[in-house]
Amino acid sequence: MKYSLFVAVAAAFASGVSAADAVKGAAEGFAKGVTGGGNAAPVYPQTTKQLISYLADSSPRVIVLTKTFDFTGTEGTVTSTGCAPWGTASNCQVAINKDNWCGNYQPKAPKVASIKYDAAGVLGMTIGSNKSLIGQGAKGVIKGKGVRIVSNAKNIIIQNVRFTDINPEYVWGGDAITINGADMIWIDHVTTDLISRQHIVLGNGASGRVTISNCDINGATAWSATCDGHHYWGMYFTGSNDLVTLKGNYIHHTSGRSPKVAGNTVLHAVNNYFYANSQHAFEGDAGAKIVAEGNIFQNVVQAMQSGLAGKWFSAPATLNAQCQKFLGHACQLNSYGTSGALTGTDTSILASFSGKNVASAAPAANIKNIPQIAGYGKI
Ligand SMILES: *[C@@H]1O[C@H](CO)[C@@H](O)[C@H](O)[C@H]1NC(C)=O
Repeated sequence: MKYSLFVAVAAAFASGVSAADAVKGAAEGFAKGVTGGGNAAPVYPQTTKQLISYLADSSPRVIVLTKTFDFTGTEGTVTSTGCAPWGTASNCQVAINKDNWCGNYQPKAPKVASIKYDAAGVLGMTIGSNKSLIGQGAKGVIKGKGVRIVSNAKNIIIQNVRFTDINPEYVWGGDAITINGADMIWIDHVTTDLISRQHIVLGNGASGRVTISNCDINGATAWSATCDGHHYWGMYFTGSNDLVTLKGNYIHHTSGRSPKVAGNTVLHAVNNYFYANSQHAFEGDAGAKIVAEGNIFQNVVQAMQSGLAGKWFSAPATLNAQCQKFLGHACQLNSYGTSGALTGTDTSILASFSGKNVASAAPAANIKNIPQIAGYGKI
């Protein structure tokens, strides 16, 4: 008995299994209560094929990444035409002519005769219901492909994983995390960098209750639609019935859509650190109800794009006490350093939080360490 237990434990350690391979902490905010794969025995994919299979099958699973899964080349390369709507300088992204996008939307843009991109990046791996996808230490890296949570998938956790290098030179070459038709999703301590299109996209379907926390949304790139080293396509929340908590994230070196919010989306943006944005952070369009409190904006040219139809409560001192009744706490002031400011005093949207799980809020002065603690490899 003792001996076989010893053998089993030794074998487990030899193959990289660790008792610590479990989701850490719990989701705050709208997705509070999400359990993912629960206490299913962890599985350790060895190949990209195994990873795809574990994510998609119908068993509850805790899937632990112990290395880099490099999808580059696994589906071949594609040669296509493209266009250069944002200029032909070497630091501009080039658009793939996907579904004749260039012809339909950018007919005047200079044509690009031939570009080559990686096929695996274009469409992410499907994640089924009741899954936890977690990285071990700082080893959990997925290169060249993202994930898709769609078709009414529910109860999914992604924690401590980096998604990187998805056709970053080109637009329409793939997103990192897509949610579209889902409920109860927690994205925590995830790093996204060098992505083609959106880092996180909640599509037009109902994504339900989503918490995105402690992530490092890193827009630093050599190829950008604004041709300035800052990625334009950050986050896009345009669901039809979505409750999104965005808390504790480091959102930096972007130039737009950080996030874009529209459709029918209630967004609680609380205690995030926005840094080095060369154009605008928030784009709040029709159907958006945004409560933004306790955030830091540092070197963000515009905290919000002006003139859009979204409804805003930007936590002004004179009205913050009114949050208590609906959010369970008085709202916290946002903090601005060399940045444009948020505006918006629509207290009517506070009622959308009534009866929901709402994330707590700390004073902005207390969250200055987010750049050091957000992202993968830190928990
Ligand atoms: C996920 O778990 C819930 C609760 O245990 C269960 O009702 C549901 O059928 C599961 N979904 C799948 C696809 O296994």
